[in-house]
Amino acid sequence: MADGYDAADNGKRSYDEAILAMRAKHIKAKKVVHIGDHELILGDCLKVMSELGRVDHIFTDPPYEAIMHAAKSGAARRIRTDGRCPLSALNFESIDAIREQVVELCAERADGWAGFFCAPEGVGRWADAINNSSAKYKRACVWIKPDSTPQLNGQGPAMGAENFIVAWCGSGFARWNAGGKRGVYTHLCNPPTRHGKHPTEKPVSLMREILVDFTCQGQTILDPFMGSGTTGVAAVQLGRCFTGIELDPDYFEIAVKRVTEAYNQPSLFPAEKPKPPKNGDMFAEVSA
Ligand SMILES: C[S@@+](CC[C@H](N)C(=O)[O-])C[C@H]1O[C@@H](n2cnc3c(N)ncnc32)[C@H](O)[C@@H]1O
Repeated sequence: MADGYDAADNGKRSYDEAILAMRAKHIKAKKVVHIGDHELILGDCLKVMSELGRVDHIFTDPPYEAIMHAAKSGAARRIRTDGRCPLSALNFESIDAIREQVVELCAERADGWAGFFCAPEGVGRWADAINNSSAKYKRACVWIKPDSTPQLNGQGPAMGAENFIVAWCGSGFARWNAGGKRGVYTHLCNPPTRHGKHPTEKPVSLMREILVDFTCQGQTILDPFMGSGTTGVAAVQLGRCFTGIELDPDYFEIAVKRVTEAYNQPSLFPAEKPKPPKNGDMFAEVSA
């Protein structure tokens, strides 16, 4: 700050400017679409979340760190060796300037888990932000991507995994449905079912496995950085109640279409087994 430059203030100002520019370009008014019990909201999650009530859990895939954004917006991203269509550059802002605010809002709004996807390079920053909030940092889980893009320039190892950080925002001991399972999830990035209209689309099968492990049927799941609505598709398929927020009107419309299609499909998944009754008690009796 000796030379009058404040990185945090600068970051916040550029974020504010980006949001204002996007609003001026696209968003005339906040838009809300209801699909059955599910609610999709077009808007800035920082503003929308401060007006929302509580939810059971938050699972989200926020923008990456600025450094990863730069890498993923370069020309190399458009070269593919797997015969599938080239990936587009990222057209949304990085998380750096708003991470603390996002964590704070999630810690206040969720009664259970908050899960945040990030690149391995971002794990420490998310852990720091969570440890400075009222939420309890639990684990950096791993999403292994067996079909991730190789390091095309051959100058080092390619990236084969992403993380998602889980934090407990509720009272008492953290609880989930997967007993002693490791937090390691293996799913193709480009399965044949990939929708393909969002540059960082997550596989629906990955989001389903996460929701089955961490949440129960009938609970409310919020995704404040909804993108093309993958978390919503998984939530609807599994009988969870979904709320999604997205800033970009084009991605928002894709999410509305995908969640509507999932809602109109007959349920693909059988009702889940009853869950163990007590927080963290490995020896409690489980009714059949
Ligand atoms: C990594 S992408 C999510 C992709 C999503 N998981 C999917 O499968 O399509 C992050 C999204 O957050 C949106 N976004 C960025 N800043 C936002 C904000 N302040 N409020 C709401 N959405 C925002 C971006 O437009 C982008 O679509």
